[in-house]
Formats: sequence, structure tokens, C-alpha cells
Amino acid sequence: MEVSRCNNRRSKLLLLLLIVSVATNLVAASAASSSVAVAGEEKVKLTLYYEALCPFCENFIVNYLYKLFDNGLISFVDLKLSPYGNAKIKSDGTIVCQHGAWECVLNTVEACAIHAWPAVSDHFPFVYCVENLTYHGEYANWETCFEKVKVDPKPVLDCYTSGFGHELELQYADEIKALEPPHTYVPWVVLDGQPLYDDYEDIISFICKAYKGSNTPEPCLHVTTRKETANPLDRVCYKDEKSKSKVPETISWMQYGDMVESM
Ligand SMILES: *[C@@H]1O[C@H](CO)[C@@H](O)[C@H](O)[C@H]1NC(C)=O
Repeated sequence: MEVSRCNNRRSKLLLLLLIVSVATNLVAASAASSSVAVAGEEKVKLTLYYEALCPFCENFIVNYLYKLFDNGLISFVDLKLSPYGNAKIKSDGTIVCQHGAWECVLNTVEACAIHAWPAVSDHFPFVYCVENLTYHGEYANWETCFEKVKVDPKPVLDCYTSGFGHELELQYADEIKALEPPHTYVPWVVLDGQPLYDDYEDIISFICKAYKGSNTPEPCLHVTTRKETANPLDRVCYKDEKSKSKVPETISWMQYGDMVESM
């Protein structure tokens, strides 16, 4: 009698422990799914090939890509930026940019920022700030972005002045040249290995379609698709097109000297 009552009490205790542990696991599981920790292999792979002064790249970054950070969709995306675009390498190893010398400076500065702060959530605000300035024609004020997004200028300036930034640009050149199918213009947006061509402004709906994880990302619950515009291909910078840019082709010695000095 004594023994069986004791066993009975023990099995009740075990049952209670079991219930507590199942409940704890359920709470932990639901906490995990409500937070936005998405396993790396589940993320949609998105790469933007661009150049700093192509007006359509500026527009894409400033008016479209930033939304991923605004609405949280970035947690479901493995986003890479490749700031080189339609630049060309001369036989002496120097780089010539489609929109002139300023573009080479800014591509390199952005490559340095990406290298200095490898997490996209860390370098995107800086790249966004620079592209927002160029979008407003204020490309020469790019250095104000250090202050605006509150980052230490040193790693970027050291990278630029030491020539390491040039090495990074050569790597980005190799990357865009290796694309299959090859890029024909920028912005060139590649999602899970497939170029979006001129549909790039619908980036959010493409990400939502591509995302295969179990939980629908919240921003995907209310996606709108843009209306077709008349000449979508007028909104790209072609590979071999001559620049129609308002930016001077070269940086005058004084300007360039000022910039190097202030670095
Ligand atoms: C973008 O640049 C313009 C011009 O400098 C500035 O007025 C505006 O505040 C900037 N926007 C953001 C979101 O930084």
C-alpha cells in the first residue's frame, strides 16, 4: 500500500514535469518564430550591381532598396552590394568610370565602407547617405555622411588612400565580369542567380515570391506591384553608353587635392 501510493505520487510529479517542459518548449518555439531570426540558407540571395553616379542606380537605392530596411524584409534577404558597374580597366591597371572620375572615387569609397563594416545593416546607411547626396547632385559632399550616419571615417579613408580600395574595385570588376548571363546595364539586380532585368523596381514582390521559409514575412502580406511605365529601358545605364551625366568628367586638381588633403 505504502509503496504504490509513493509510486503514484512520483508519476504525478513526472507528469507535471513533462507538462512544464513541453509548455516551456512551446513558449520558446513561438518566441523564435515571432522574432526575425531567419536561417542563412533560407534567405533570398540578392545582389545589386551598380555604379555610384548612374541616376537610375541612385534612384533604385534611395527610393526602392531602402524599403527593405524600413519594413524589415531585409531579415529575409542576403543582400550584397557591388559598386563597380560599367567601369573599365585600362591596360595600365587604372579604372575608368562611366560617369567620370567622381564616380570612381565614390565607387571606391563605397567599396571601402562595405569592407569596413561587412554586415549590410552596418554599411547600407552609409551607402544610402552617399547615394542620396549624389541623387540630389551633391556628390562632392559625400564626406558629410560619416557625421550623418555616425561612423568613424578612418577605416574608409585609410582604405581609399592606401590603394586597398582600388584592389577592392578590381575584385568587384572580376565579379561583374563573371556574371552569367552577363550584365548589359545597371542597376543589375540578381535574385537567387536570376537577373530581374528592368523589373528591378518590383524588388519587394520578387523577394516575397522567392522566399521559401515557413513564415510569410509581414511585409509580404500587403505587396503591391508597380504599374508598367512607358519605356522601362530608359531607366538604366547601358554598359557601353556614353555618360549623359551632369557630373564633370574629371575632378580638377584643386578639388582632388582638397579631398586627398582632408582625408
Ligand atoms: C537626402 O539628401 C537631401 C539633400 O542633401 C537631404 O535634404 C535629405 O534630408 C536627405 N534624405 C535623407 C533621408 O537622408
